[in-house]
Amino acid sequence: MSAHREDTVRRVSALDITQRKGKTPIVCLTAYTAPIAEILDEHCDVLLVGDSVGMVIHGLPNTVGVTLEMMILHGQAVMRGSKKALVVIDMPFGSYEGGHEIAYANATRLMKETGAQAVKVEAGPTVAPVIEYLVQRGIPVMSHVGLLPQAVLADGGFRAKGKDAEERRRILEDARASEAAGAFAVVIEGVAEGLAREITDAIGVPTIGIGASAGCDGQVLVVDDMLGLFDWTPKFVRRYADLRTEIARAAERYAEDVKARRFPGPAEIYFAKKAG
Ligand code: KIV
Repeated sequence: MSAHREDTVRRVSALDITQRKGKTPIVCLTAYTAPIAEILDEHCDVLLVGDSVGMVIHGLPNTVGVTLEMMILHGQAVMRGSKKALVVIDMPFGSYEGGHEIAYANATRLMKETGAQAVKVEAGPTVAPVIEYLVQRGIPVMSHVGLLPQAVLADGGFRAKGKDAEERRRILEDARASEAAGAFAVVIEGVAEGLAREITDAIGVPTIGIGASAGCDGQVLVVDDMLGLFDWTPKFVRRYADLRTEIARAAERYAEDVKARRFPGPAEIYFAKKAG
């Protein structure tokens, strides 16, 4: 047996993504389950197992309650469903802010137990040294600046960032510090017009925007938002499907058929073998 297993399809690597700076825009969506990952894989460069999983799949009010175990389970599912895309897993709130070694232990656990090739952290001012520590030990890190969902309790809600000069300066600084620490790409979320372009021009690694304008090197959306699974979506989301309506219609038709004994029909039942 060969020492190296040859996969038929080579996955996109973190380095491939870094090399896309200023080239064809990077396509990224979140994914949390194997069947959705399987559908998205062909169309995406990056599948992000976002901690948004807590809100969109588990019904939590924000991402603060998401655990490492939840990220591992969903990361494993997305890895099973995909072959080609780079899979990046969010480090949940509390798993990297408490010290370099804690962050390293949790990041390696995420990677070993899922097989994913990279992690993402929300890069407030204190996080750049953590990124550097992880990168120097062989862990590809994607950074996230601007609106930081894990800081929602401190911020008093989800609100667009970079509306005043001081906040813009700090976000630009977070992005620069992320690059200097070795992040292979930077997600920019929910920033006022113009800032994403300024950051994209200022740093040498790709920026991936969400609610951050087309001035980024790529885009990411929460897949459930773009599929129309919620009755409300943020301003920056474009809905490419209306699955909420489709699912409600399907459930309504199913309920009608069950109540009218139209389901199951002859084609949907098993018959015993004829004797003799
Ligand atoms: O958790 C997530 O889905 C994210 C995206 C919003 C980028 O971090």
